Amino acid sequence: MAKQAGLEGVVVAEITTSFIDGSEGELIYSGYAIEELAENASFEEVLFLLYNSRLPRRSEYEALRSAIAAQAGIPDAVTAMMQSLPKDTPAMAVLRTAVSMLSAFDADAENLSDKERAKAKSLRLTGQMTTICAAWMRIVKGLEPITPRPDLSLAENFLYMMTGADPEATACAALNVYLVLLAEHGMNASTFASRVITATGSDMHSAIVAGISALKGPSHGGANSEAMKMFLEIGTVGNVAPWFEANIKSGKRRIMGIGHRVYKTNDPRAGILRRHAEALAASSGTSQWLDIAVALAETARADDYFIQRNLYPNVDYYSAVLLYSLGLEIDMFTPLFAMSRIAGWSAHVISQMGGRLIRPKADYVGARGLKWQPIDER
Ligand SMILES: CC(C)(COP(=O)(O)OP(=O)(O)OC[C@H]1O[C@@H](n2cnc3c(N)ncnc32)[C@H](O)[C@@H]1OP(=O)(O)O)[C@@H](O)C(=O)NCCC(=O)NCCS
Repeated sequence: MAKQAGLEGVVVAEITTSFIDGSEGELIYSGYAIEELAENASFEEVLFLLYNSRLPRRSEYEALRSAIAAQAGIPDAVTAMMQSLPKDTPAMAVLRTAVSMLSAFDADAENLSDKERAKAKSLRLTGQMTTICAAWMRIVKGLEPITPRPDLSLAENFLYMMTGADPEATACAALNVYLVLLAEHGMNASTFASRVITATGSDMHSAIVAGISALKGPSHGGANSEAMKMFLEIGTVGNVAPWFEANIKSGKRRIMGIGHRVYKTNDPRAGILRRHAEALAASSGTSQWLDIAVALAETARADDYFIQRNLYPNVDYYSAVLLYSLGLEIDMFTPLFAMSRIAGWSAHVISQMGGRLIRPKADYVGARGLKWQPIDER
């Protein structure tokens, strides 16, 4: 029997949310090239697109934006729970726990069949996850969380709740584009996990908790954190060449944020993120981390090893610089990924609802025919 380690190459669903051509460096959401969406779309428009396979009209867009903002508040009990946690709890563990707890306060949590109500529920969760992320950033610093404003977009609200100040336009644009670019990516591990949960007939909160849990793993959502730690370790542009020689040429390590299982050419998202990281650097006057990232990418692109293996910066490479420039601690990088990817997870959950139970097979390769031994004789 054919064994597909990691289910690689196995088709498990027909989808309309995204298409990836790794050899051409192409990513499409519901018919639109990612470059087109990154240039023009708000995250809220992308959410609508993924749910409905078309762009919203103005009235639909306004209704969706205000529905998210108006319901983004979290119950006091959830804030109190977060405040009671040790401050060194990994932010992804906080997010997973808080989202699970939210289900107890959602009157519609146990409705498992109505797709329109599922969309409304996931919009609530989308806003609430933003609030949880911003609240945790303040709680670890000993600050009071800030409640969301109904007049702001999701990206604006996050930056407002993080700092308490009116967000600056370059920062809002950078965060919005990050959210747009990370929203959906085919049958990745966290999306598949959400679909498996949904196919059992379980609920939206459980499916999103499964997505968060899968994304928490370093092989999925953790590479941007590792890329930033690497830029910090390198420290200066002058240290890029010696660091590359000592760590990469020696074969000891991999460059985090370079290479991709699917993209064997430019990841279309990387260049867009780089441009926004450049805009942030220009507006803040600080380009130290961007300069290191660019110098390291150029060093790798000029190296035969990287050329022969088609290794290019992936989405995590410049998103690390972008998120760090926005003032996020490294521990918050993966929660920000989740804050965006809930769009894809929930679109997949809605399309999986009512579908067939996902139940693959396994080959048994263990022993047979063993005889029972009483416990004291083993
Ligand atoms: C993402 C990743 C796991 C994809 O791997 P893959 O398609 O399975 O490719 P492999 O791990 O088989 O690597 C293929 C070759 O390229 C090399 N390679 C891959 N990524 C590399 C990197 N970032 N730095 C140095 N060498 C790398 C491997 O050592 C291997 O070399 P070999 O043929 O001599 O053995 C891999 O590129 C990687 O580890 N990247 C760094 C982590 C990262 O950024 N992850 C986020 C992905 S979105």
